[in-house]
Amino acid sequence: MEQLVQNSRGIKRIVVGQETSDGAGVRLTRVIGGAQLPQFDPFLLLDHFVSDDPDDYIGGFPPHPHRGFETVTYLLAGQVEHRDNAGHTGLLETGGVQWMTAGRGVIHSEMPQQQDGLLSGFQLWVNLPSGQKMVAPRYQEFDREAIPREQRSDGVELRVVAGQTSRQTTGPVSELATPALFYDITLPADSWFSEPLPPAYNGFVYLIEGSVSIDGTKLEGGSLAVLDQGESVEITAQESSRLLLVAGQPLNEPIARRGPFVMNSEAELQQAFSDYQEGRF
Ligand code: FE2
Repeated sequence: MEQLVQNSRGIKRIVVGQETSDGAGVRLTRVIGGAQLPQFDPFLLLDHFVSDDPDDYIGGFPPHPHRGFETVTYLLAGQVEHRDNAGHTGLLETGGVQWMTAGRGVIHSEMPQQQDGLLSGFQLWVNLPSGQKMVAPRYQEFDREAIPREQRSDGVELRVVAGQTSRQTTGPVSELATPALFYDITLPADSWFSEPLPPAYNGFVYLIEGSVSIDGTKLEGGSLAVLDQGESVEITAQESSRLLLVAGQPLNEPIARRGPFVMNSEAELQQAFSDYQEGRF
């Protein structure tokens, strides 16, 4: 008989994203990385962009650098083309993910490939441990069909982008320097979902749409629940809902951060700026 999971995670705090813009005027909601929640180790940023007005996204993100962490772009709808200074290109489409280890540095652009219609998705930044901040850049890109779906009772469905569920569904994103899991979960109204999480991981739920309860606390669409420590998470959906469940191993290292560079010390940050300005990316 399966042992009942003890000590399910409650909500430590709820964060409502702030409207802002980035890149060349892309309107987005910043959930992690703003004043309310500057970081949640190992996560440095979570942006949610969603609009069917091209004026909100058409400018895209022209060439810019990154060093010292990973950027995860997960698209719910639309098309985004990626190009970097080493000649790597890729087209991200609805349901696809790009998990980019920037490592010692890339200069890239991320541009919508649509003139109209809905663009919706996320960018998550995952910090890298000090020993991996200067590794060679690496791309993991998977389209919708390459991301396995797991069906649960009550009609609950998980899209497993990274990590392995308790039922052994394994996401295609692998060999992460900072161990993490990333699930996109759809819950019908009045459904229930439970899943163990590694107790050492920091975890959050971002509710894309609908209404759910975690440990008796209600969460509304567009808000993020920072989870307590514990061995599992249990979610009840009051309405048809969709959410991201993301968790990762905290690094517990000093963070020196400015703009697109995230290092461990001010000296490393200065080095990143001079390397970029002097063309060493
Ligand atoms: Fe970027």
